[in-house]
Amino acid sequence: MRYFYIFFLTILSISLVTGCQNTKEKQLSSVVNSDEKWWKEAIVYQIYPRSFKDSDGDGIGDLKGIISKLDYLQSLSITAVWINPFYSSPNDDNGYDISDYRAIMKEYGSMEDFDTLLKGLHDRKIKLVMDLVVNHSSDEHEWFKQSRSSRTNKYRNYYHWWDAERGKPNYRYSLFDVNHDAWKYDSLTNSYYLHYFSRKQPDLNWENPTLRKEVYDIMKFWADKGIDGFRLDAFGFAAKDTSFPVFPKGYEKNFMAYYSMVPAIHDYLKEMNKEVFNKYNVMSVAEGAGNSFEDAHNLVDESRNELNMAYAFEGVDIAKAEGYSIPHFKKVFSKWDSAFNNKGWISIFLANHDQARMVSRFGNDSEANRDLSAKMLNTFILSMRGTPYLYNGDELAMTNAGFSKITDYRDMATLNEYQNQLNKKGNIPAFLKRLQFECRDNGRTPFQWDNSVNAGFSTGAPWIQVNKNYTSINVADQEKDANSVLNYVKKMIQIRKSNQVLVYGKYNLIDKDNPTVYAYTREWKGKKMLVLLNFSNQTSKVNTGLNLAKAKPLIQNYPNLYGETLQPYEAVIYQIL
Ligand code: NOJ
Repeated sequence: MRYFYIFFLTILSISLVTGCQNTKEKQLSSVVNSDEKWWKEAIVYQIYPRSFKDSDGDGIGDLKGIISKLDYLQSLSITAVWINPFYSSPNDDNGYDISDYRAIMKEYGSMEDFDTLLKGLHDRKIKLVMDLVVNHSSDEHEWFKQSRSSRTNKYRNYYHWWDAERGKPNYRYSLFDVNHDAWKYDSLTNSYYLHYFSRKQPDLNWENPTLRKEVYDIMKFWADKGIDGFRLDAFGFAAKDTSFPVFPKGYEKNFMAYYSMVPAIHDYLKEMNKEVFNKYNVMSVAEGAGNSFEDAHNLVDESRNELNMAYAFEGVDIAKAEGYSIPHFKKVFSKWDSAFNNKGWISIFLANHDQARMVSRFGNDSEANRDLSAKMLNTFILSMRGTPYLYNGDELAMTNAGFSKITDYRDMATLNEYQNQLNKKGNIPAFLKRLQFECRDNGRTPFQWDNSVNAGFSTGAPWIQVNKNYTSINVADQEKDANSVLNYVKKMIQIRKSNQVLVYGKYNLIDKDNPTVYAYTREWKGKKMLVLLNFSNQTSKVNTGLNLAKAKPLIQNYPNLYGETLQPYEAVIYQIL
């Protein structure tokens, strides 16, 4: 049986990233993928605001908290941050249910705090990418309150309603609902409304041009404030066949083909591009990369004027509790690289707020191997072609919390699925075990600043427990330790920033069938880099076909190098001279 989470993560493997060009960029009209753009050279750091830093002791991270850590962000030398939603929200889904798109969530602070944050970032030459959640709103948004009040209300068509006298609408799957039923009956107007996510996240009706204009106006509001980009949440679902036909038997096996990428999405994106992206100096990233290479190209091909960058989930979905195949991992990342060899652009990431921790899933979080494998994984992210996304805490090798009780979890989707498992008498111990590895709350525990109470995150009781290992994994200790993961990541960021070959260079997989080592070269304008990554806990041999005696190591996670023999989780980048 496939658990909800695997399903959910697979679905989320369909992300996109978009953006607009600045004036300088607009002058570059060629579509060769080595065209230089700020968003290709960006190193994006993702901040989960609820868990980053709390300034007022309520146990919830906030904007003032982020402001107090701007110097930390600067010390990383990242060039952009993507902050998860901080708009007004009743927090059914931690901000992904927005009740006012032009206001700041009260737990997070005020608009003044936002302005200070944006200025503080810009003063440090860090760009801000905001999350735009417009496949759905909160059911507490004024639009929805109006919409549900009567069938003739002018906001009625902002959402998808089905009058009950037409009979029950054809089944649609909800990712977050307890019963996975996406239609919720509302007696007030004797109708059903659609929600692909939770009941408190009704889907917006993108067929309605008035709704679309409202969204563009919201985007302009933020763009006028000077933000630098948008990440479009779950946008692959926005276009729908609103006749809601019966899906053929067995459609579940190809869920996304039925639920996402309805062709009208391209019209909406082109319109959004014309109305917003093209008018402002902003980058845009949508969650997903479509259902095929063709989709991905159509979304990010510059000549089509839709989005800038794909955010494909296939790679991040590879890790399973039972382990994963390294050759498969190599194949997937090589495949996606080839997809954008000539046109388009991709994001490179191994974690985000919807995943458990990177080192626990893709590396090895044992005491002996945690730092080594975290350094190795960060080397991977920062040496591939594509824009790297680092998820907050992965620069420290923060690990899964591994909660054992359902009461430790906070994620609504997890709690609803737990209830669903109870309802259908599922295997609860197996479900809980699975959560320990894959629940997204693992990646949402408070950021570990130091070894003081609550890891220096908050003086109050945190909204979700701090990982017990904060006394040994935290910023304060790692800043002092020259050999720490943090200092390694900082060095790796500098290497990427000072070697454009790592941004634009052609990627070439070598020793392709090697079962444990991921090896590749990057080449650009006469410069060549060799990246060797041992993804296993075994000493491994690699066959590079290159003379390493003549190569210059730029970064390594072991003190000594033994050429083509790599130690467990070894990472090294050579410049080939
Ligand atoms: C994708 C977001 O990344 C996730 O956190 C959220 O729960 C869903 N979209 C619904 O907005």
